[in-house]
Amino acid sequence: MPHYTITLHHPDQASERFPVQAGQTLLAGAEAGLTRPVPVGCRGGGCGLCRVRILQGPYQRQCMSRRHVGPGQAQLGYALACKVLPEGDLDIELATPCPETPAARLCNGHG
Ligand code: FES
Repeated sequence: MPHYTITLHHPDQASERFPVQAGQTLLAGAEAGLTRPVPVGCRGGGCGLCRVRILQGPYQRQCMSRRHVGPGQAQLGYALACKVLPEGDLDIELATPCPETPAARLCNGHG
């Protein structure tokens, strides 16, 4: 099964790479492959905690809350990682959740 390489750029200029299998969500790959925890909530496109910005690369967006990613933001690459299916290598960064988003819970796939 093919996989893609995702490069996550952190605000401190560091970056991490992790693989995502074809058909796997960006969030699932991040939880399995990152050493730093990522914000996780509903895993269903509704809470907005897993908001990211995709800087480069092809992907498919599934249905997600417009409250957390409006049409204009989507054009700028903002998306919810639990509803993104990579279709090639991606460059991404974590995005600040919208103000109405509940406090983030951090998860690295081990808890
Ligand atoms: S985890 Fe809730 S929108 Fe992605």
